[in-house]
Amino acid sequence: MKLQVENFEEYEKAYQYSVENPEGFWGEIAENFVWKKKWNKVLDWNFKEPKIAWYQGATLNITENCLDRHLADKADQPAIVWESNEPNEANRTYTYRELHREVCTFAQVLKQNGAKKGDRICLYMPMVPELAIAVLACARIGAIHSVVFGGFSAQSIADRIQDAQCSMVITADGSHRGNKEIFLKHIMDEAIISCPCVKKVIVLERSMSPVSMIKGRDLFWNSEMDRMRSLGLTDCTAEEMDAEDPLFILYTSGSTGKPKGVVHTCGGYMVFTAYTFQNIFQYQPGEMYFCTADIGWITGHSYIVYGPLIQGATSLIFEGIPTYPDAGRFWDIVDKHDVNILYTAPTAIRSLMQFGLDYVKDKDLSSLRVLGSVGEPINEEAWNWYNEHIGKGNCPIVDTWWQTETGGILISPLANITPTKPCYATLPLPGVQPILVDEKGEEIIGNGVSGNLCIKFPWPGILRTTYGDHERCRTNYFATYENLYFTGDGCMRDEGGYYRITGRVDDVMNISGHRIGTAEVENAINMFTDVIESAVVGYPHDIKGQGIYAYVIMASTPKDPVMARKDIAATVSQIIGAIARPDKIQFVTGLPKTRSGKIMRRILRKIAEGDINNLGDTSTLLDPSVVDKIKEERL
Ligand code: PRX
Repeated sequence: MKLQVENFEEYEKAYQYSVENPEGFWGEIAENFVWKKKWNKVLDWNFKEPKIAWYQGATLNITENCLDRHLADKADQPAIVWESNEPNEANRTYTYRELHREVCTFAQVLKQNGAKKGDRICLYMPMVPELAIAVLACARIGAIHSVVFGGFSAQSIADRIQDAQCSMVITADGSHRGNKEIFLKHIMDEAIISCPCVKKVIVLERSMSPVSMIKGRDLFWNSEMDRMRSLGLTDCTAEEMDAEDPLFILYTSGSTGKPKGVVHTCGGYMVFTAYTFQNIFQYQPGEMYFCTADIGWITGHSYIVYGPLIQGATSLIFEGIPTYPDAGRFWDIVDKHDVNILYTAPTAIRSLMQFGLDYVKDKDLSSLRVLGSVGEPINEEAWNWYNEHIGKGNCPIVDTWWQTETGGILISPLANITPTKPCYATLPLPGVQPILVDEKGEEIIGNGVSGNLCIKFPWPGILRTTYGDHERCRTNYFATYENLYFTGDGCMRDEGGYYRITGRVDDVMNISGHRIGTAEVENAINMFTDVIESAVVGYPHDIKGQGIYAYVIMASTPKDPVMARKDIAATVSQIIGAIARPDKIQFVTGLPKTRSGKIMRRILRKIAEGDINNLGDTSTLLDPSVVDKIKEERL
């Protein structure tokens, strides 16, 4: 079966076949890739344990699909085009041949420094081609990469390194984002103090700011690459990986505890990211594809690195931010590189909208053919602005719904095939079987309904476990409703059967498209001296989608509340990272609790939203008068 559907009829046919015979469907789709050995069985699964295995018995190396197989016909085509944070700095382009060589050389650096199949390697880097090279080099030798977003704190990095017991770290001296520099190596040094498992640190020279280098542990990227070249080690045989061997770990927030390490495996992830990339964007040979995400998030893994490269696309990597040097930067990049497909987040669109059309009007955006949206619900105003002013009414908007755990996109229009509707992710991809359930887990049948979104059958990109804690994976995703994968999202299905994701129904917030657990932020706030207890909720925020509202009980009333708020926010930045800084901090003397001591977040959410006259039943509270006080003093 060919990989790409080309019209709506073909989509419907593929969908039907994928539901009637999932193994037949995914077996035929998998024939489009390079395997070292074919599978004995396409799928083995139960959602009880859970145990999910795709393409059992097959072996492969995903980098042969990303690189080697393109050398026959695309060796001189750009695989990666890089745009610096600084508009004046020259672009860098890597053809497939060059990327292959760089990945192999860096794979040798890893090997020569003791890394081997199954080892975990932490990557904490700027958005430069070397990050993609490091990711692929890990995959080349069968090491498991764990990329940590460059905005996370030393503490967050340390937690992730310890959880996965990484033996190696790849970082850079610094990272330029707008006119700020983040001193990555310095932050990493602080993290490693509590991580004795780390034996080697490779440091890319990017910002050229001074770094401390520990003898025997720290090595510079460039000198190691030169050393490999001088040894003639610029090729590297791809490690033969079992389809179910882990490819990477990526940490993501849940409703409780610390972030968990979502594990994706080699075979299914490869098939699913490539299939979804090709079908959703309808990528055509030679096109320039620009996904504005960071490789530190799942969107960057699946749709900057793996999906596009497996499909032989040209993937543009941008180091900077949308508002530097001004709010026209994205449009300059589209204009300069003749971008055909642009994939970004509603937060970015909303933040650029507020600068008005001056930054758009003189830019030539005529190369654009498809626009994508990801990470959070897109509001109608942002959808219309994107459609009108960026797509000029000519580009379909693919509103792609998915999660770190799903590996790839599950619900989305296929560009120019599925009729779009503002704010709707529309229809499931072939192979994806969504259902809506009520609180009791009963399926909600029919259209014009809403409920909790679950998936009832595995797809190849589904997570396999959470690293080192399979039970957590089971309780988080497979225990809420029997025999279903629970997404944590609320969802509507309209009269036409189109899906619209309405947002999280658990204690996970979505701040600028980034997932942050309320418990994580509370733990960080509680670390601040004098804090007795706190409760955190999300509230609607014009730009960020959701903002963070914290209710904090202090041991004594702060003398300078403005300063105390700043200090608490700084503590959260220090412990988690700037993305988790609360937007509003209200000092309270009590929190609304039930008689059993549970905080009633529903009430706090309503107060944060400003919906104070509609708090519902407060009679079960231990002390209902707490609520009046919080209401009166709300920010
Ligand atoms: O609530 C949904 C929201 O983002 C969550 C997943 O976050 P994360 O794992 O960080 O992955 C983000 C990038 C895939 C989901 O549970 N979300 C993601 N895409 C959409 C969305 N909400 C509405 N519409 C979307 N297109």
